[in-house]
Amino acid sequence: MCGIVGGIGQFPIRDYLINGLKTLDYRGYDSAGVALAEPEGIRVFRMPGRVQALDEATPRDLHVVLGIGHTRWATHGAPTANNAHPHTSMNGEFVLVHNGVIDNFRHLKNKLEAEGYVFHSETDTEVVANLLEFHYNRLKNVKAAMLAMIEELQGSYALAILKKGDLKHIYFAKNRSPLVVGHGEGKNLLASDFLPMLKEGKDFAPILDHQYGYITEDTIKIFNEDGSVANPKFTRPDLKIEDIGLQGYPHYMLKEIEEAPAVVRRLIDNYFDGNQFLFDPKLINKLKAADDIIFIACGTSYHACLIGRRYMEYLGKRSEVYIASEWAYHPFVSAKNPMFVIVSQSGETADLIRCMEIINSRGAVSLTITNTKGSTLERDATYSLLLFAGVEIAVASTKAYVAQVALLSLLTGAMDDSTAVVSHLYDVIKAENAVIANSESLKPTAKYLSGKKDVFFLGRGTDYDVALEASLKLKEITYIHSEGLPGGELKHGPIALIEKDTPVIGFISDPLTDLPIRSNFKEVEARGATVITVVSKSLAKAGDSITVPDVKEYLSPLVKVLVAQYLAYFAALELKVNIDKPRNLAKSVTVE
Ligand code: F6R
Repeated sequence: MCGIVGGIGQFPIRDYLINGLKTLDYRGYDSAGVALAEPEGIRVFRMPGRVQALDEATPRDLHVVLGIGHTRWATHGAPTANNAHPHTSMNGEFVLVHNGVIDNFRHLKNKLEAEGYVFHSETDTEVVANLLEFHYNRLKNVKAAMLAMIEELQGSYALAILKKGDLKHIYFAKNRSPLVVGHGEGKNLLASDFLPMLKEGKDFAPILDHQYGYITEDTIKIFNEDGSVANPKFTRPDLKIEDIGLQGYPHYMLKEIEEAPAVVRRLIDNYFDGNQFLFDPKLINKLKAADDIIFIACGTSYHACLIGRRYMEYLGKRSEVYIASEWAYHPFVSAKNPMFVIVSQSGETADLIRCMEIINSRGAVSLTITNTKGSTLERDATYSLLLFAGVEIAVASTKAYVAQVALLSLLTGAMDDSTAVVSHLYDVIKAENAVIANSESLKPTAKYLSGKKDVFFLGRGTDYDVALEASLKLKEITYIHSEGLPGGELKHGPIALIEKDTPVIGFISDPLTDLPIRSNFKEVEARGATVITVVSKSLAKAGDSITVPDVKEYLSPLVKVLVAQYLAYFAALELKVNIDKPRNLAKSVTVE
């Protein structure tokens, strides 16, 4: 959600910015722009729509010394060229890009209008540009003006700023929106994450909340809130540029679905040495000692947490799951010694960052489970565990869900002093490979679904958790309306929606719920529904639609979810929609 890229030094900056924006486009956006500083002045190019259009509109024959670029996911104002970033202050003193939301922008705008400032866009970002110029005119010093600006800004921001006539600095400031700086040879860089900098940069460091500073061709200067100089550790992620390519796949989503077995294997390798688990014993003791395990997450990660809660309950522990944007405004906890488990693929989800602030303000213990090393949520937690799923580029999360559930199962094994989960996970790897090998057989069902208006997914127990995730996957990439429901709940209302040939997809993994869920299928069939069953082999009966290999019931989501992901993917393929970048969605949801 919004992407920032910037660079200064001896290299083709225009192309670095455009390619960097293309790399960041997985975050989601609807307009894009660049500001390119030449000795003659700063030139700004902005376009609604894709970065490709910006690329075509941006001249190639400029003498660019430094520049910044931005992909915008509209919050304040429609995705027009006029609202696209970069924004220029009224008298052209500053040009800047912004990721985040300025909560008090209305108040600041009124104040600046009273000072004679005129605005040309509907954005909160133009307010930031004018506020900086206002303070600069007073103080005649960029650092002092930035400090005065930061003091007034409320909300979230990552800012990259160019100053008229200054060909030596790109300034930046950060609060609650991600920003990373990178060293290169004869150049320095900044961006929303390290991916666009991977080719030109050597090593990278995240900017922390309330820090600000600048990059020049040969230095990176970061200041803490109190003005002291920060010296962050620069590291290089264990990732090659090839790792972020499509590697022959038509879409990232398909590539990432099919990485599931490798993801599970990598987690085993990272957290089990063949004899014992490699988790920090202090973390395991804290989890064991907690009187409530409180999961907080959003979207797909929330669905993984639903399974995590069941795992805790299997151990006899009290556990709850909250949607971050809900808990943030009703942060109720009754336990005396809770442990918060924050699960986030990106580690940058704004709703979760707000929850983490509340957790930390209460001095509570937290664990972040994330795919993103160095992310805000990883840094701000007491403990953190990495998912090692590799970069997930498709907006629809697939392999990260698999990694989250698998890691939660390993963690549960460690809490239970039982390593049986490891061999159960090896069975999962085999079963997932079988689903992948047979994936073509899912195409006719997906084609059938692609022609429907509404689809219902049913399950009981962990199958219900999978039904929720299956429904989210289908709706987000095909735009077909769908719902995930507990089988037994149908007759309490939703069955009213079932009519002739409504597709109902039902999951069956557990002998205990086999009979009751099949009764629910009969109920909808009697009302005309077309039932498609996805069944573990040992429970399959004549007439079932899709059979998958058996694994231990508690791990069945790791196999069933692959079927759901393929059905969504193949249905989207039929509909010829933008599978990796569905409309209105962003990969990293950095605004609340
Ligand atoms: C759906 C999807 C989202 C994310 C959600 C949380 O496919 O990807 O629902 O799961 O936005 O994101 P993270 O896990 O990065 O906090």
